Amino acid sequence: DSPRIVVTRALPPAALEPLHSVGQVWVSPHDRPLSVAELHQAVDGASAIISMLNDKIDDDVLDAAGPNLRIVANTAVGYDNLDVPAITHRGVLATNTPGVLVDATADLTMALLLDVTRRVSEGDRLVRSGAAWSWDISFMLGSGLQGKQLGIIGMGHIGQAVAARAAAFGMDVAHHSRRPVEAGGSRRLPLDELLATSDVVSLHCPLTAQTRHLIDAEALRSMKGSAYLVNTARGPIVDEAALAAALAGGEIAGAALDVYENEPEVHDGLRALPNVVLAPHLGSATVETRTRMAELAVENVVATLLGKDAPTPISVPST
Ligand code: GLV
Ligand code: GLV
Repeated sequence: DSPRIVVTRALPPAALEPLHSVGQVWVSPHDRPLSVAELHQAVDGASAIISMLNDKIDDDVLDAAGPNLRIVANTAVGYDNLDVPAITHRGVLATNTPGVLVDATADLTMALLLDVTRRVSEGDRLVRSGAAWSWDISFMLGSGLQGKQLGIIGMGHIGQAVAARAAAFGMDVAHHSRRPVEAGGSRRLPLDELLATSDVVSLHCPLTAQTRHLIDAEALRSMKGSAYLVNTARGPIVDEAALAAALAGGEIAGAALDVYENEPEVHDGLRALPNVVLAPHLGSATVETRTRMAELAVENVVATLLGKDAPTPISVPST
């Protein structure tokens, strides 16, 4: 019997090609995430699941898959949607797609940082509205970046790539990370000091029990009134209701978000504010990067089904 390979959402067909030599491939026909019921039905008897970041892979899904399952290959670097202990407990391998989306995500972080500090999207809305406007010495002023402090929370590959870009814009980079990292020129600060002294705070940590609501009402209160928050990591790292309140109350100057607490829903309070840039989870969304992510997920499955080492297994941290 040829192994059943389940792909929960369409990926570029060329990237999927290598799967056909190792199993029977089922690709979701839907242009949306599978419902829980559809996911359970789809994975029945699967040897491999290629999952997306909006598929929750928990014990119920693993039960639905049954004993043939050998790998869950997440098409994302973040894997908070996988119950990794439950997966590995069953002797199933979990993999993600690190490395290949570092530059794309760092680029989008800079796009959002520039957008919110220079009011690009706000200006776009103004121009489209047809309202009268004219150049004026004090019209729609934003905030310059040179000499300002960027505070990076989570100094992995993406955080470091953002640091390099920000340095090229003349920013002073500081960071907060659990472990010390070799990050040329960037000072490591305790979280409270980083929040209190940064002009822009950018999140690049994974979503874990420790980072859920890391940015809550108290953290937001401790930031400068002139500071901006950028989140291209995971929505639940920020208490979205607290962020909406802090922005409405002028506790910080603005925010630029690519991810949301209850994605794809966005807090009404955020949508109502002019000083918030809202992007629809585009961090890795370039043709080149999405292709590499799909290819890497496929490489992980092919290697595993052939009994070889998968290139990017998720190593469960030993903290
Ligand atoms: C995208 O958000 C990813 O984790 O790859
Ligand atoms: C992100 O892709 C990483 O490798 O840290």
